[in-house]
Amino acid sequence: MILGDVLRALLGGLFRSRRRDASSKPAVAGVLAILPKLSAPEKSKVPSFFFPVFWGTTDDEAVTESMKSVTKKLEGGFYFADNLLTWVRNLSMFDDGPFLAAWKDNVESDSDKAIVWRRYVLACAAYHCVQLEGDFVECGAYTGVGVKTIVDYLGGPAFPKTFWCYDLFEHDGSMANHAMPEHGEGLYARVCEKFMPYPQVQVMRGKIPEVFAGGCPERIAYLHIDLNQAPAEIAALEHLFDRMVPGGILILDDYEWAGAYRGQKIAEDAWFDERQYRVMPLPTGQGLVIKR
Ligand SMILES: C[S@@+](CC[C@H](N)C(=O)[O-])C[C@H]1O[C@@H](n2cnc3c(N)ncnc32)[C@H](O)[C@@H]1O
Repeated sequence: MILGDVLRALLGGLFRSRRRDASSKPAVAGVLAILPKLSAPEKSKVPSFFFPVFWGTTDDEAVTESMKSVTKKLEGGFYFADNLLTWVRNLSMFDDGPFLAAWKDNVESDSDKAIVWRRYVLACAAYHCVQLEGDFVECGAYTGVGVKTIVDYLGGPAFPKTFWCYDLFEHDGSMANHAMPEHGEGLYARVCEKFMPYPQVQVMRGKIPEVFAGGCPERIAYLHIDLNQAPAEIAALEHLFDRMVPGGILILDDYEWAGAYRGQKIAEDAWFDERQYRVMPLPTGQGLVIKR
């Protein structure tokens, strides 16, 4: 064997054993036990979902009536909610029993219910990321419903990661983002109480990015940014993106929403373009980035 062959054989062995390691066991010990099992879908039956909660029309009632009439003419597997109409789709989230249980146990409002597809995108990303090194982060945790849905999907009290949740939990009228119905003095306490049985969830009150000085993970596997405004989202990216581990997933909740949210996409495209990343726009209105 000449030197080149020896090197190739050695390097080949190294890459083969790495590949075997990566595919045969999750990187984080003990994770297998909490990974939920998919329920078997019925081949001949596809679920449908009609939940007319949507935004950005001039006449919600007329749109609802039109959609009722349209969906009657569609083959099974239609979905209408959260500004998304689609049909002849599997609607996989309704076949994933453990996800359905976590989602139903946690919804608190019609908006929570309408965004079930967005929640399932987060749940699938989390399923992947829980098997990587690094913590979980949500910027803009609000009532904590999204975080708790993910935690309950992946083991509940046995969820094996630290999950950092950042928010102001109130709105003083001067912020670039719009106020939310539950904002107010009591919200922070309510969210802390919600996560009392989950010591792995860190509820951090304060303004992004200043709040990161009070506590911020070194390594991040899962990052969900949902701040409804470009300046704070860019500040969060500046602080957190470099801390993401390779293979980690970032979800930008509003990236593909236009209207009042279009500024976020414009600012984020420029930020990612400088770093040679493209955000994958999802039909749910979210954007997805896989960290290299
Ligand atoms: C749409 S809500 C988040 C909803 C939540 N992710 C969910 O899935 O239910 C946006 C949140 O971002 C928070 N927020 C906006 N700008 C912020 C900032 N600079 N620092 C901290 N929180 C901020 C708001 O207080 C608000 O609760």
